[in-house]
Amino acid sequence: MPNQPRGHTHPALASPGIVLGCDYNFEQWPASVWDQDMALMRAAGIDLVAINIFGWSAIEPQPGRYDFAALDQIMDLLHANGVRVNLGTGTASPPPWLTHQHPEVLPVTADGTTRFPGGRQAWCPSSPVFRQHALALVEQVARRYGNHPALAMWHVSNELGCHNALCYDDTSAQAFRTWLADRYGDLDTLNQAWGTAFWSQRYGDWAEIQPPRLALSARNPAQLLDFQRFSSDALLDCYLAEEQVLRRHSSAPVTTNFMVTAHIRNLDYWKWAPAMDLIANDHYLDHRLADPVAELSFAADLTRGLAGGRPWMLMEQAVGAVNWQPYNLPKAPGQLLRNSLTHVARGADSLCFFQWRASAQGTEKFHSAIVPHAGTETTAWREVLELSSTLDRLAEITGSTVEADTALLFDWESWWATDTEARPSQGVRYLDQVHAAYRALRELGVTTDIVAPSADLSRYRAVIVPCLHLVRDTDAAALSDYVRAGGHAVVTFYSGIVDEHDRVRLGGYPGAFRDLLGVTVEEFVPLLPGDETTLASGARAGTWTELLRTTGAETIDSYADGPLPGVPAVTRNRHGSGQAWYVATALDPADLRDVLRRALREAGATAAGPESDGTVEVVRRRGGQHRYTFVVNHGAKEIEHHLTGHELITGEHVGTVLRVPAGAVRVVRQEQSR
Ligand code: GAL
Repeated sequence: MPNQPRGHTHPALASPGIVLGCDYNFEQWPASVWDQDMALMRAAGIDLVAINIFGWSAIEPQPGRYDFAALDQIMDLLHANGVRVNLGTGTASPPPWLTHQHPEVLPVTADGTTRFPGGRQAWCPSSPVFRQHALALVEQVARRYGNHPALAMWHVSNELGCHNALCYDDTSAQAFRTWLADRYGDLDTLNQAWGTAFWSQRYGDWAEIQPPRLALSARNPAQLLDFQRFSSDALLDCYLAEEQVLRRHSSAPVTTNFMVTAHIRNLDYWKWAPAMDLIANDHYLDHRLADPVAELSFAADLTRGLAGGRPWMLMEQAVGAVNWQPYNLPKAPGQLLRNSLTHVARGADSLCFFQWRASAQGTEKFHSAIVPHAGTETTAWREVLELSSTLDRLAEITGSTVEADTALLFDWESWWATDTEARPSQGVRYLDQVHAAYRALRELGVTTDIVAPSADLSRYRAVIVPCLHLVRDTDAAALSDYVRAGGHAVVTFYSGIVDEHDRVRLGGYPGAFRDLLGVTVEEFVPLLPGDETTLASGARAGTWTELLRTTGAETIDSYADGPLPGVPAVTRNRHGSGQAWYVATALDPADLRDVLRRALREAGATAAGPESDGTVEVVRRRGGQHRYTFVVNHGAKEIEHHLTGHELITGEHVGTVLRVPAGAVRVVRQEQSR
């Protein structure tokens, strides 16, 4: 597979079980608190702490003058207490002296406004001045701690691109031009790729090209798309530059924390993943979403996809509330364990929290932590202890892998192309469509791998392709070959429309998939917000319809009313020895579930668990001679699940029926059946 990280997983961390960890911002506390922290960390069974993430101004208080006294002390203290270190390179946020002396490193937004220091990540990814200072720091840190016995792994910067992914200053403009020259070679090729014949945008000199700064009208979509690619590459380059320094001084694994989450979309992690020694993700429940818990499962599955199916690390999650959403909800009793074990069920072998001790000052003073403001006589503390002992009981699952025979194709480039400025309907948002398909699969009890469009699909019984608006020729051909060879695909609307340059594939939509699906579409017919249409089967749909004609496919359902009565809305096409379904509208959740249930049944895909409204999740991991079945009960009633084996959390034998109390999780070990 192309998206494989280099291969260290938790054996590289030399951990015999599931790692429990957290960020430890010791700089925020006097040394007198550190000793208490060590005792409490031992009590909580903390294996790993991330330190020095925001340490720059402490360890380099003046340019070129380093002060490692506190960091030395804490490294030794942690080591003496058996806690291993995930050591930050410290470059996430520049110290005030750097932005004061070199204001040219500050980021600039699309409207040309400088973003000032005072928050964090106030630096331009393409700035050579920032790079020079950051690498000088990394050199010092790597040299000093590269062989420290407490060092388990390196944590480059922090959430690269969380705030500063898109920078539009003159330095970025120049770097963008260089990136474009590498990609296109000459201006004629670039003019072709960007379609600059439109609106008199033809470039005659590289110097004329700008980053897509805000304009009076919508901007060139191909330019926007390339700027997204460039910006993702620029940050990856920052990572690689630091990594190179670390490797000179240390053999510990190197990674950074990804943000596979609903509100961050600027990094193409399919390109980043192969550069990581292990895949680490930060995940926070997002209460702005319709179904935050389903999104957690989605993010976990996508992180596993980035890890090439291998175990991965949850680098950050919250014990309770965060502080950065409009309304910051704590976790309900038991939810910490449920959320955590959902990540484990879906492939995490390490669970880390942001953060150890709740800050008393600063922007994050109202963010939850393992040691809350109220101390250890608290539910949060007790629940972390419970999680810790539960993870001890699950130690043997470390290294096992998740079983799935259904895949969902996901792509950051398609996200960028779908959600661009001038489009048929603002109501079609990539992630909404992906989440809708994922939720349906989850509610059908199906475990899904989430993979890149270029992944090898041959081992899957079914492949779901939601809203893959941009698709490359080779990936479209691979999907077609997969179906021809006997695979089953379900493609949803607005897929296959443009190529990698955002150029429409002519001759009828969905150009890339017309033959595969046996349909052709003349025109998009979006619906206004709130409008709905009914299908012949009684199914309901909204957002989108298409003037579609079958050219070989069978009509499964068609519109009974709305703008296109009688026009096919759901089709199925025999293609070689396989089947390709097309869903040309945004079906209501229950109706989308019906279509997927039928398609998956025909494909012979496995459902690990029962159908539910999402309150029950069953996921299986397999390792050595054993299968581990995780049953997560998010509901308010006890459930029963039929299986036999040994339950690891309670230590009980399960005869034929596993009972999972309301809100609980159970993990059953069975001998491998095949
Ligand atoms: C992450 C970040 C942490 C902390 C956390 C709060 O974005 O990496 O440093 O800010 O969010 O939720």
